[in-house]
Amino acid sequence: MNRVLILGGSGFVGSHVCNKLAALPWRITLPTRHEAHARHLQHLPRVDMVQADVNDPAVLRRLVLGHDAVINLVAILHGDARAFERMHVVLVKHLTQACLDAGVHRLVHVSALGVDGQVPDKAPSLYLRSKSQGEAVLRQAATEGLQLTLLRPSVIFGAQDKFLNLFARLQKLFPVIPLAGAQARFQPVWVEDVAHAIVHCLETPHTAGQTYELCGPQVFTLKALVELAGALCGVRHGRGRPILALPEALGRLQARLMAWLPGPPLMSLDNLDSMRVDNVASGKLPGLQALGITPTSLGAIGPTYLGSPEYQDPCLALRRYRQGG
Ligand SMILES: NC(=O)c1ccc[n+]([C@@H]2O[C@H](COP(=O)([O-])OP(=O)(O)OC[C@H]3O[C@@H](n4cnc5c(N)ncnc54)[C@H](OP(=O)(O)O)[C@@H]3O)[C@@H](O)[C@H]2O)c1
Repeated sequence: MNRVLILGGSGFVGSHVCNKLAALPWRITLPTRHEAHARHLQHLPRVDMVQADVNDPAVLRRLVLGHDAVINLVAILHGDARAFERMHVVLVKHLTQACLDAGVHRLVHVSALGVDGQVPDKAPSLYLRSKSQGEAVLRQAATEGLQLTLLRPSVIFGAQDKFLNLFARLQKLFPVIPLAGAQARFQPVWVEDVAHAIVHCLETPHTAGQTYELCGPQVFTLKALVELAGALCGVRHGRGRPILALPEALGRLQARLMAWLPGPPLMSLDNLDSMRVDNVASGKLPGLQALGITPTSLGAIGPTYLGSPEYQDPCLALRRYRQGG
């Protein structure tokens, strides 16, 4: 039986990947910083959960040993330059070195749309720059024998997403939504399609050496997505809240203020900077169809979770919002 090490396997995308792999002949090693983060996956067969700090190179070297492949899903959305570099560049350096040293050649790495591994310094935000630098490290390792597949998703939707759920909850709680980056464009992709793509790449050797852009069938502005979230969760009988598109200076001020709120920031200055580049397929790289996957529309899936009872209960919406989107 093949063995795969999944870094970041406890997260939103990783949980869907683990569920899919559990139905296939793979044995999964799932490191996590805190076992509680991965408890929802404990019931799956052939999952070996390990409490470990993957930022420690010696730990990572030990983890990689004995596996046939690695999937890397570790990433952060908020932090300072040092934190982004640590997660998206240094960890990737340690991982590629550990893989090459251990003779584990197959790596599927999830990056993000808007990333450019050829010219990392051009990226407009710390998130995209560090992700681009990480891709550059991976490409170098690919010249040394790593069989690398890069996947670049647009924003990902699904029942546990922190994007549409957040905008639905905000509309349950506030009468008006002041919105920065309202005209930024996205091509949302369903988490199950992303997980399917990852598993397909893992199992299909000829996807090594390729980069895929994972996008849904439709392009939306951020404003349209917020409107859709409000409509689907039934705010004001499906009309949603009025949205106040903020000019750039006010949007930046709002992001600065949000950084002071307790808990993970809802929107940071760096998130706004990321939205300077369109989050839509470039058309220059293969997408889900090239992997035999027909992209699922937000219209088909959104109502299944944004129309859930949670959104009929403002107290529950407030509790979830306080828990971090
Ligand atoms: N979600 C989206 O809309 C979206 C869009 C484009 C690209 N992506 C990319 O898709 C991948 C997966 O995203 P996701 O939404 O599934 O992320 P997620 O839910 O935030 O999960 C991230 C994982 O990374 C691990 N992690 C976080 N901080 C860490 C740290 N300091 N040290 C070690 N491990 C850490 C966590 O593991 P433990 O807590 O168990 O240790 C967690 O399982 C990422 O590369 C992301 O950039 C996501």
